[in-house]
Amino acid sequence: MPLVPMRQILDEAAKGGYGVGAFNVNNMEQIQAIMEAANETNSPVIIQASRGALKYSRMIYLKKLMEAAVEEFPHIPVAMHLDHGNSLETLKKAIDLGFTSVMMDGSLAEDGKTPNSYEQNVAITLAAVEMAHPLGITVEGELGCLGGIEDGHGANLKDDDLNAHLTDPDQAADFVAKTGIDALAVAIGTSHGAYKSGRKDPKTGEVLPPKLAMERIHEIHRRMPNCHMVMHGSSSVPKELVDIINQYGGKMPGTYGIPLEQIQDGIRHGVRKINVDTDSRLAMTGAVRKFLFENPSKFDPRDWLGPAREAAKKVYIERMIAFGQAGHAGDYKPMTLDDMKKIYASAKK
Ligand code: G3H
Ligand code: 13P
Ligand code: ZN
Repeated sequence: MPLVPMRQILDEAAKGGYGVGAFNVNNMEQIQAIMEAANETNSPVIIQASRGALKYSRMIYLKKLMEAAVEEFPHIPVAMHLDHGNSLETLKKAIDLGFTSVMMDGSLAEDGKTPNSYEQNVAITLAAVEMAHPLGITVEGELGCLGGIEDGHGANLKDDDLNAHLTDPDQAADFVAKTGIDALAVAIGTSHGAYKSGRKDPKTGEVLPPKLAMERIHEIHRRMPNCHMVMHGSSSVPKELVDIINQYGGKMPGTYGIPLEQIQDGIRHGVRKINVDTDSRLAMTGAVRKFLFENPSKFDPRDWLGPAREAAKKVYIERMIAFGQAGHAGDYKPMTLDDMKKIYASAKK
């Protein structure tokens, strides 16, 4: 089966009332782990690559690995998505490489740091849709800025700053109408990475869960029940994975992630794509540290890459079950980009 348009995977998820994990990849082991997890749980899946991943994999390797993935598991619907595209030029690169979906992150300027104005965001996102839809390619846009690396000010946003960058439900309706995007990434207080909470208990110093504005997701869903929302920064950063890292020489104090229950609440209110990168990084790093600590004389990379792949696969399986995509791979006949082209063209008339 060739790669499918992400839009179809999201539409089917909405029909079935479930969410789909979008897992970031940089290498063969992650792709294999995702595909094995999807195969074992019979899940449709979204695989995504950031600009950093394109650079690291030197693009052509990623393209060929994805071809291998769909050839090995022809019964699994897979979309290949560009994560946080920063310009039309980057989007074009991904499309030329065979991606079936792109994110135009117009919430930020091309430097990936400075917040754009609303008008700039609308203009660049609309241009992305005009470029991608005639080719049948799905487009994700983002309104509002995430915390952490996306906030334009570095990590540790104060509550007021963070609030000013959250997605405004009024603006969301206007943004979707003006741009025609297929999926809307919302900023509700999540951030990338393993440190998602700037809050500590003043008495005990214990890290507290990040404050999430779930009500914004509820409100957007109430106003636009057919809008597919995307939650970025959605790794749960499980304590047991961080503990393994710390137990075998790592130093990661004060981590915190997004509890699965909050993601599941989002899924009940229109979230269809859930971005997870950090959790697989943690699982792989912990497995490698543990293996090398316990086997100091081993030096064959297969010996530690194998357990890393297994550890990542376990995370993917758990997420696929928790998000509800498990069991849905065979529900529908996958579309081609040509099919999608026709749908976009007739919607324009
Ligand atoms: O956008 C965030 C993802 O976790 C990708 O991270 O830019 O380090 O590849 P990256
Ligand atoms: P995490 O860092 O929480 O895994 O988020 C990844 C993400 O949002 C990629 O776009
Ligand atoms: Zn993201």
